[in-house]
Amino acid sequence: MRVTGTGHASMRIDTAAGSILCDPWVNPAYFASWFPFPDNSLLDWEALGDVDYLYVSHLHRDHFDAAHLKRFVSKDATVLLPAFPTSEMEDELRELGFTKFLKAPNEQVVELDGGLKIMIQALTSPTDGPIGDSSLWVEYDGVRLLNQNDARPADLSVFAELGHVHAHMLQFSGAIWYPMVYELPQAAKTAFGKQKRDRQFDRTWRYIDDLKADHVFPIAGPPCFLDDELWQFNDIHGDEGNIFPDQSVFLSEYAKVGGTNGVVLLPGSVAEITTSGASTTHPVPVEEFFADKVAHLEEMRERKRPVIEAEKASWRHPEVDVLKEMQRRIEPLLEESIYLAKGVGGPVRFDLVSYDGETVESIVVDFPGKQVRPYADEKVRYRFRTERALIEHLLHIGEVDWVNSLFLSCRFSAARIGQYNEFVYAFFKCLSTERLQYAEGWYDEHERSSDAEDITLGDWVVQRRCPHLKADLTRFGIVEGDQLTCQLHGWKFDLASGRCLTSVGHKVRAHRADATPTTA
Ligand code: FES
Repeated sequence: MRVTGTGHASMRIDTAAGSILCDPWVNPAYFASWFPFPDNSLLDWEALGDVDYLYVSHLHRDHFDAAHLKRFVSKDATVLLPAFPTSEMEDELRELGFTKFLKAPNEQVVELDGGLKIMIQALTSPTDGPIGDSSLWVEYDGVRLLNQNDARPADLSVFAELGHVHAHMLQFSGAIWYPMVYELPQAAKTAFGKQKRDRQFDRTWRYIDDLKADHVFPIAGPPCFLDDELWQFNDIHGDEGNIFPDQSVFLSEYAKVGGTNGVVLLPGSVAEITTSGASTTHPVPVEEFFADKVAHLEEMRERKRPVIEAEKASWRHPEVDVLKEMQRRIEPLLEESIYLAKGVGGPVRFDLVSYDGETVESIVVDFPGKQVRPYADEKVRYRFRTERALIEHLLHIGEVDWVNSLFLSCRFSAARIGQYNEFVYAFFKCLSTERLQYAEGWYDEHERSSDAEDITLGDWVVQRRCPHLKADLTRFGIVEGDQLTCQLHGWKFDLASGRCLTSVGHKVRAHRADATPTTA
């Protein structure tokens, strides 16, 4: 099996029975904030796009690049489609001209022509990607590969059960706006960033240990930030709180925990994987490339400047009455929302900075009051401050997912009272009836589902499944003193009270092993 690195989470898998192109991403994403790193725009995409199968793991724009798919990927390719709850991905791909779809039944091996086998695991909670993320398992001629991508399943047992895996591709770096955009003192930001960076690595080690593949390929990040306004997010400034470590940092951190089987794929690197080993060739030596990282980024920044300027010029739509449009789009959804609105539990304020850089219009999405209205000097749960032009653009194009556009752009600042609230972001990625109903139904089912099994961790008996997204705490749970940490997303719980210390709600059931449980 041959794997060609094509940048970020993208790769092309070639076997004698067919080729699969995964997640090709070249054009900037999220308001021109994210670019693929290292640059992959100079690859021979005409040739790479001439494939038998296309796999897009999910709809995040650093995985689903509509313009690139339209222009470069063969429309004769069969799309390997994850079993997502909504038809959005298929609809979008049909719009781009794809007509052949293989809807892969969830977690079931499918044999394609010539003995090529695939299995796709679709994750479908409202917090997985833009309502859905997935991983692709491939087997040909005894060689097995898992492209886990940036998906975060509770464990990898469904793949491990299919036999020893030879190549494991997975995310290790950050892909979020936390904590950089928060209005916090620098020292706090650095401390939170460092915690986040450590957690990302811990999670990665855990997945690697779960699968014990022969070779581990760090993929799916980090992106690079080429706009001058965002340049500080690149991990080139010696900031230990930067959440975007690159592949060379992965190798050195992995070595510290005893990892010796890491393989970096640059765009254009080719790995030949067999049951007995892997040999990889690179367009330039990997160490040399990372030693020149700053020069690479600076050159790319100059080359992409016109692209960023052109994008910026398209955001302004002064004819949009932001308050009225937000009322029209969001108020009906607030009416429909039970779990998300209750979960947010308070007003969320948007401060919009106008073209002059100063004038601010303050709009409140009032979840308890189910209305959108001007800010009225009240206490709010969250406050976001961003350029008015960005919101105008989202309203102008009818964007239904403000996470997959505004929030991932990092072109805002934020403040909040209290803990992280996942419902805020779940709501703003569900600005359509179809999405909102799905998310509401998901929370409804999960609120009602009983979770009776308990396990013992240290001195405590706790429920087996994490109250967040059901990770198996026998694998992911760590108890230190009276505190439980679930390593899948790093959420913490106070065991004595059951209270989640990371996010509102999500109480854990727990009691001391030497005490009788209370039923209250
Ligand atoms: S499943 Fe997310 S922290 Fe446990």
